[in-house]
Amino acid sequence: MNTASAPGKIILFGEHAVVYNRPALAVPVFQAHADVEISDSPRPGIWVDAPDISLYAALSALPHTDALRTVIDGFFQAQNISSPPSINIKIKSSIPVASGLGSGAAVSVALIRALSAAIHKPLPDADVNDLAYEIEKLHHGTPSGIDNTVITYAKPVYFVRDQPIETFSVGQPFTLVIGNTGISAPTKESVGDVRKLWLADAPSWEKVFDQIGAIVKQARTAIQDGNIRALGPLMNENHRLFQQLTVSSSALDRLVDAACAAGAMGAKLSGGGRGGNMIALVSSSNAKAVATAIKSAGAQSTITTTIQ
Ligand code: PMV
Repeated sequence: MNTASAPGKIILFGEHAVVYNRPALAVPVFQAHADVEISDSPRPGIWVDAPDISLYAALSALPHTDALRTVIDGFFQAQNISSPPSINIKIKSSIPVASGLGSGAAVSVALIRALSAAIHKPLPDADVNDLAYEIEKLHHGTPSGIDNTVITYAKPVYFVRDQPIETFSVGQPFTLVIGNTGISAPTKESVGDVRKLWLADAPSWEKVFDQIGAIVKQARTAIQDGNIRALGPLMNENHRLFQQLTVSSSALDRLVDAACAAGAMGAKLSGGGRGGNMIALVSSSNAKAVATAIKSAGAQSTITTTIQ
């Protein structure tokens, strides 16, 4: 039996602008994870067992475009294996789908690691990351690669597209409440809409991306220096720029406003936007009150996580 696990992730600053080569900051979220277990199958072929989505099927019976099939086929193709072994692949994930926690990338990374162990060819992180990025491209159009990178390395990452991975240190732990709107919003759509805006008026949106990039750099310094108080206003400012980019929504704005009214130091949407998650920076004394306020404002669920 071979098993592998990958955490969820949350983007702290810099979404969307990161697609246009500005930096972004993201961290793993270990409370939510994808787990893959591979065992020999008594039946010929590859069998996929994903109880969370009530799926139990032969891989060959799934459409070629199926998300799980693309990862598994992509893995064997990349390894030049034309007749894969008969295996049973069990996939479980506690990461909410299409909400900004990187569920797709986490399943890809866990699958690639478990499959490579099953064929006795464990891959180095860089190869896992490259393969997971190829899969992200199939689903997202023009992904920056931030999701697969943070999830593969499971460390806080200062990410710049096409640059070598750069991790960063956290001077002082800080706590976030992640609020899930419960609205499933495909990243591909918000990224595509930003692309349309940019194509129509690149100079104006480049300025907005520059502003977001500057926030990311200040945030990285503040996090490294343990200057947590400085992060709140930077989150608020980043959220305001996302409103301009049209990637917020009334549901996200409601949760962000409720968090701030309940004493959060700052709050912003996280991920592709339009739905999915927001994050609020809290202190240990008001984390519960902020989580309650976010829920009362309509969040389906909250996760409180400490970044260290
Ligand atoms: O929705 P998520 O968490 O997968 O994040 C998307 C982040 C974007 O910057 C909007 C897109 C990207 O590929 O980086």
